[in-house]
Amino acid sequence: MKKLFIENTVEHVGEVVDLYGWVDTVRDHKKIVFIDLRDRTGIVQIVGGEDFKGLSPEDVVHIKGLVKERPEKLINPKIKTGAIEIEGKEVVILNKSLTPPLPLNTDGYDIDEEVRLKYRYLDLRRKRLTRNIILRSKMVRLVREFLTSKGFIEIETPLLTKSTPEGSRDFLVPSRMQPGKFYALPQSPQQYKQLLMAAGFERYFQIAKCLRDEDLRADRGFEHTQIDLEMSFVNREDVMKLDEEMVTTIAEELGYTIKQKPFPVFTYKEAMEKYGADKFDMRTEEDKQNGVLAFAWVIDFPFFERDDENKWTFTHNPFSAPMPEHREMLLNKENIDTIMATQYDLVCNGYEVGGGSIRTHEPSVLKSTLEIMGYTEERIQAEFGHMLEAFQYGTPPHGGLAHGIERLMMILTGEPYLREVVAFPMTSTGQTAATNAPSPVDEKQLKELGIKVV
Ligand code: AMO
Repeated sequence: MKKLFIENTVEHVGEVVDLYGWVDTVRDHKKIVFIDLRDRTGIVQIVGGEDFKGLSPEDVVHIKGLVKERPEKLINPKIKTGAIEIEGKEVVILNKSLTPPLPLNTDGYDIDEEVRLKYRYLDLRRKRLTRNIILRSKMVRLVREFLTSKGFIEIETPLLTKSTPEGSRDFLVPSRMQPGKFYALPQSPQQYKQLLMAAGFERYFQIAKCLRDEDLRADRGFEHTQIDLEMSFVNREDVMKLDEEMVTTIAEELGYTIKQKPFPVFTYKEAMEKYGADKFDMRTEEDKQNGVLAFAWVIDFPFFERDDENKWTFTHNPFSAPMPEHREMLLNKENIDTIMATQYDLVCNGYEVGGGSIRTHEPSVLKSTLEIMGYTEERIQAEFGHMLEAFQYGTPPHGGLAHGIERLMMILTGEPYLREVVAFPMTSTGQTAATNAPSPVDEKQLKELGIKVV
């Protein structure tokens, strides 16, 4: 097993060490050759003799060498290992590399997307991307630590689930056992997390994959990951407070500055009047340069809006509870345009980075919500019957929220595209990185599923 990462070589001055990694650059100075050896933690300079001359960039090597302090005037303050170099003693090439089809020592923004994603495993060797992916891992670790310390339990929910109208188009999966029937991939774990509250877990979280067949945009993918949480016996302010503590703790642990604490709170109406949108950027030019994070809450959203066919639809979530003072109106289906939801959205630097609500745990309120949207009794039972039933067996009052991890990461890294913070993202035309899906399948597979492509 590799025992030493490159960033730690500085702790081994005077020792002969075993290094494993990739050749980053080779500079041939006749008698000696300078190699930059790279692993995911950084690079270190190797000074080698004749044996090292056959190396070329991206070869994977095992190098044995003596760690030496550099003379004062040769110290390179720009890299973590700049105070040392390795006197190369032996080199073994573990795998020779072809010349990569794309440069890896640039930021990569100007390289064609198709090429970058086809060779994503090379693209990820780029320093910028390696850093983004490692930062993402750190963030998720901090989330787990924070929520676990607050008594949350991490629970996985199914990927093969039921199609429900939750705002976007579903990805469907045909059932082999029951031809003609379909699962849907979850747009979010919304219903399951509420059922976990019914089950009495009280505080749930999940790092949850969510799938939505939406038009792709810079900050929107078919797949995204949510920090998804739900709590029982809470009101709107409780959830907002706990979430704000989580976001603040994580951002500050990662070394970021938050513009305003506690986060300012705007009503939807105020946000629209002030910024003309429900997601907005409160940073000054100076804030932008300093990487400041400007979080704000938006609350008091209308529960319903008119859709393309002029029918009422929910603005955020059909499971939301109305504001307590609007409960009667919702039950009586009166003044529908004035009913407000207990929804809260978190915005940061111009993006919506999270949202949630207090849910209704009353069957009558959920039913009335669906009736306002024109659902027939039959459809309500078919699509929401399981929730309505669960609400009749002691489901506690509950609420929660979810953050888009990619959106948070885009803000932390300053990246303009979601794909820069995802290991294997899709192309803008929905093709997967490295593996080239969607692709045709065997006739036999289709037959088993009872499917004909027309
Ligand atoms: P919502 O649909 O607002 O709420 O999603 C929560 C957060 O997820 C992120 N997000 C996305 N990120 C990338 N690509 C997408 N296609 C995408 N869609 C959403 C956003 C958003 O704020 N179940 C509710 C949450 C709840 O009420 O608890 C839900 O999914 O950052």
